[in-house]
Amino acid sequence: MSTDAHQEYDDNLMALLEALWGEGFMSPGGTDEIDRYLAGVDLRGLSVLDIGCGLGGIDLHLVKQHGAGKVTGIDIETWLIDRCNGLAQRHGISDRTEFICVEPGPLPFADSSFEAVTSKDSIIHIADKHALAADVYRVLEPGGWFAASDWLAGYEGEPSAEMQAYLEAEGLDFGLASANTYRQALESAGFVDIDIVDRNEWYRQQARDERDQLGGALYDGLASQVGTEFLEHEIEVWDKLIVAVDQGQLRPTHLRCKKPG
Ligand SMILES: C[S@@+](CC[C@H](N)C(=O)[O-])C[C@H]1O[C@@H](n2cnc3c(N)ncnc32)[C@H](O)[C@@H]1O
Repeated sequence: MSTDAHQEYDDNLMALLEALWGEGFMSPGGTDEIDRYLAGVDLRGLSVLDIGCGLGGIDLHLVKQHGAGKVTGIDIETWLIDRCNGLAQRHGISDRTEFICVEPGPLPFADSSFEAVTSKDSIIHIADKHALAADVYRVLEPGGWFAASDWLAGYEGEPSAEMQAYLEAEGLDFGLASANTYRQALESAGFVDIDIVDRNEWYRQQARDERDQLGGALYDGLASQVGTEFLEHEIEVWDKLIVAVDQGQLRPTHLRCKKPG
């Protein structure tokens, strides 16, 4: 069902994120990070589900560089689905992609619908990791991979005051969980060969580079596009993000596991 009832991201934020992270990306590291978390996973010719496709950059990469046979991207914001369709058309991959606006909740697909499932930095929006892991397992064919990146909590229970300040400044609907929770969720769903790779150290430097770009090389162009007030607010968000990442409270992480064949 198409709905904008869940809209959190808007044009200004999107312009800023794409300026930082490249066309089609709402998350850091772009194609390099995708290639890292997909290391050893062969998607050639496979049907792939992408949970939280955003602007579609990941789906383009999966088709063009990883040879995925058919990518189904789902998101909860209609206008993002429209943007994905536009990107797919511009890059001539519409015959190998499908983008669907869904309601948050159970994945609207039959059992064993996909040969692989991926997601880049979107599961952070889905609070119930156990339900999500069980549902991903259900829609995967036996022997299929689930390979993703996400932003994890470096704490159990309450965040530090600084992390809380970052979350409030960011203002997005996040449902963070720790690596322990992810591992338990994947194990109890039935996944095997679970590999969880922490990317906090990488992102500590990356976040600083992003902050420097926002305040430097990208500043004038972005200010004329999104306005100085919005840009200054986002720079403040990045300052808080850097503290949270330095404290180890916020931990970008790669996840890879398999449904037994
Ligand atoms: C940080 S963005 C990442 C987008 C994209 N994967 C990327 O890396 O550029 C998170 C995306 O997840 C979507 N999202 C949030 N909750 C979702 C849900 N329950 N199901 C599917 N997508 C969801 C958001 O609308 C947003 O597009």
